[in-house]
Amino acid sequence: MREWEQEEPLIIERGKGSYLIDTEGKRYLDGTSSIWVNLHGHRHPMLDRAITLQLDKIAHSSLFGISNPPAVQLAQALIRIAPKGLTRVFYSDNGSTAVEIALKMAIQYWQQRRPDAGPKHTFLHLKLAYHGDTVGAVSVGNIELFHSRFKSLLFPTLEADPPYCYRCPLSLTYPSCEMACLDPIERILKTHHRELAGFIIEPLVQAAAGMLTSPPGYLKRIRELCTKYDVLLIADEVATGFGRTGKMFACQHEGVTPDLMAISKGLTGGYMPLAATVTTDDIYQAFLGKYEDFNTFFHGHSYTGNPLGCAVALANLAVFKKENTLARLQPKIKTMARLLRPLRQLPHVGDIRQRGFIAAVELVEERQTRKPYPLETRMGHRVAMEARRRGLLLRPIGNVMILIPPLSTSLPELRRMVDILHASIEIAT
Ligand SMILES: Cc1ncc(COP(=O)(O)O)c(C=O)c1O
Repeated sequence: MREWEQEEPLIIERGKGSYLIDTEGKRYLDGTSSIWVNLHGHRHPMLDRAITLQLDKIAHSSLFGISNPPAVQLAQALIRIAPKGLTRVFYSDNGSTAVEIALKMAIQYWQQRRPDAGPKHTFLHLKLAYHGDTVGAVSVGNIELFHSRFKSLLFPTLEADPPYCYRCPLSLTYPSCEMACLDPIERILKTHHRELAGFIIEPLVQAAAGMLTSPPGYLKRIRELCTKYDVLLIADEVATGFGRTGKMFACQHEGVTPDLMAISKGLTGGYMPLAATVTTDDIYQAFLGKYEDFNTFFHGHSYTGNPLGCAVALANLAVFKKENTLARLQPKIKTMARLLRPLRQLPHVGDIRQRGFIAAVELVEERQTRKPYPLETRMGHRVAMEARRRGLLLRPIGNVMILIPPLSTSLPELRRMVDILHASIEIAT
């Protein structure tokens, strides 16, 4: 905080397309989509219009026992694009909360639907997972730097090693490892399935861990194991949802339907705080019953299903259709890979990971030994400050540089982003 106080504050006043513009009029490419939320660029006319049209009707009414047209229509639209079998939508207002809801639903589901399955009171998750900053989400997370101070508040969970191939916890190499990291996961599920309400995972990309990309087939195998051992699969698609990985949802790359799916960030194209926990009819049914059984899900937020948020989320999905966003993204994903390739020549670039339109460049002090820069060197921050001077706004994760631009980014803009990243790494390291 002290260092931040001494830095020049950056105050963003406006935006247009892939650019953010500060109070001095300086323009920056939005290299992280304003923390992974923006999809179609800033000030998109269809999204702007959706909000003003809705504002002419009403800004907010509650979803407690009643509803509003955009919330109803959005739920229908989400079911159409979600992995097959997800048919029920529960709204909230941010990613952490969508995760909390999934956890609570899973716990209550087992109590009311299948009490014989065991005292299913906890969750399995991966090390280095990040599912948000509220206490339940932190309990199923494992990023020491963010979470260690709050240990006394957290509920106990079971953890497994992540598929971090660059720093393989088993010291193996992909593909000859044949995903041996799945064996300990199966052992945990086999031993503890009666205690496990769910396995929560960031599908395909463990985002805040530094964009760790899982090998093909990994997620599908996790789905099979969860089914085999009667444990719900909770997919946290908060970061990966809405096209980031090249398909609408990451789970769809491997034909996986989770039992619960948390979505937020890109849900409104980066315009409004809105989230949803999407689930199956089987889970929905567990919450029905006679009044006096009190089987309902006692959970709700004041701004749940906010009409402005739902209206702009509908417009977001309309833009996907109208602009053919996913089809037009495919060549950009290939170009991103090609543009990033030369960065491998830089002596302090240890690993480059990419999944869809999400890229990460892991900086290391020594390439040979993969020795990380000590956090005190603030190397990631130094690179980001160099990039900022050159007109690219980045937010690194430790010493991992993240590039996750709006899906609408043009090829020249993408080229400029990678050029600036390249030059900034070269200079700072
Ligand atoms: C995978 C994942 N889950 C949950 C969250 C939390 O979302 P929010 O910041 O909206 O609470 C994030 C945020 O980065 C995330 O990456």
